Amino acid sequence: MEYIRVTGGRTLCGTVRPAAAKNSVLPLLAATLLCGEPCTLRDVPRLKDVETSLALLAAVGADAVRGGPGGRHIVTRPGRALCGTVPAELAGAMRGSVFYLAPLLIRTGCAVLPLPGGCRLGPRPIDIHLAGLAAMGARIEMSGSAVTLRRRGSLQGTEFTLRLPSVGATLTLMMAACCAAGTTTLHGAAREPEIVDTAAFLNAAGAEISGAGTACIRIRGTGGALLGGCEHSVLPDRIAAATYAAAAAVAGGSVTVEGCPPDYLAAFLDFLDQTGCTVLRGKNGFSVTRCPSRPLRGGCDLVAAAYPGLATDAAPLAAAVLLGAEGPSRIYDGLFQNRFACAEGFAALGADVCTEGRTLAIAGREAENTPLHGGTVRAPDLRGGAALVLAALGARGTVLVADAGHIRRGYADLPGDLASIGADCRTLCPGENPGC
Ligand code: EPU
Repeated sequence: MEYIRVTGGRTLCGTVRPAAAKNSVLPLLAATLLCGEPCTLRDVPRLKDVETSLALLAAVGADAVRGGPGGRHIVTRPGRALCGTVPAELAGAMRGSVFYLAPLLIRTGCAVLPLPGGCRLGPRPIDIHLAGLAAMGARIEMSGSAVTLRRRGSLQGTEFTLRLPSVGATLTLMMAACCAAGTTTLHGAAREPEIVDTAAFLNAAGAEISGAGTACIRIRGTGGALLGGCEHSVLPDRIAAATYAAAAAVAGGSVTVEGCPPDYLAAFLDFLDQTGCTVLRGKNGFSVTRCPSRPLRGGCDLVAAAYPGLATDAAPLAAAVLLGAEGPSRIYDGLFQNRFACAEGFAALGADVCTEGRTLAIAGREAENTPLHGGTVRAPDLRGGAALVLAALGARGTVLVADAGHIRRGYADLPGDLASIGADCRTLCPGENPGC
């Protein structure tokens, strides 16, 4: 069991630079299977989900290794004969395994995927991925907890409307359409920056995708031929950027986030403005300042929604900010049923919170209330775990976050990043007594 220990009460000051976005790196690694020439992804962080992806690529017979100075980049070379079956333990280890469906179907003619795992945020069906692939001519069989996809000849371009703007399904169908015969038009597509980044990578490798970042994406397919290769610098992680911004809001002080355009997290920064933080936006970065002696304003009614709305991944982070704000707030997550599993941990630290369906209600702090206290809490999932670490920055006392391994799925070293701007926060060494 991994633990992070945080002692609250330190003001933060400094500059942080978010790593490459996990939610772009994962589809990009899968997309390299569509490339017949070597590809390089630059500055890829050492996240658990990235390591799982490298293991998955190796398991299907692809060649993907770390290279460059300090192993910062990932270099992939086209494998020869690939195997289309994803091992169950790798599929179950992350949601990102779903990104292998389309590339393996194209490369091998038969992809077998045990149903993907990932954070337990509620039901996470893959019906839109499958309906779109079926519209392109894939034959689909469900057996037990695995899905098998087969194709005869190349996939066919099609006109397809997603029933909701799923990020994962948009990526799957964009990848599939790149090597299909004819043109595909996706209506109702997701518009997240990670879609634009994946399209930029595929286009650099020779695909013809237009409209990524809008609800209508057009892809002219190669008719079965593989793409070429390319070098790509992955876009910055906007959720990590939101985490550092939230840290400044919870702990007080001034934090500058470099290398991440504020537009990527505009809704989150607008929310911080609303609470009384000072947010200065530049072209490729921003700063968040909060005077520690001035309480934040609560009274927020937030809705997490598809981009450009408030990101669902940032909803627990917003909750951590609001725990110490004056006045009650509510956050509704329209995407995932169980987004606020971290509420139990917030309550264990003394916060007055409750979940009602998909809504988290936060009583907020009254002027005479004491701040959160120390204690031991459990990270329920990646973003919920990060939210507990944030909440601890504003606690009086020491907080132990157990099950902290979830957090490493998306942040290479969150405690190290926060310590670099002044937080008293670190991962305990294996075998170290969490009680000391
Ligand atoms: N949905 C369906 N059917 C589908 C696909 C999605 O009903 O075929 C539903 C989902 O159940 C959910 C909603 O649509 O209610 C949105 O899901 P989406 O497909 O957009 O999400 P995802 O691709 O599964 C990615 C990120 C998530 C992030 C969401 C939303 C990866 C690996 N995961 O998930 O990231 O929350 O988009 O932006 O890219 C995280 O990083 O912690 C994380 C959970």
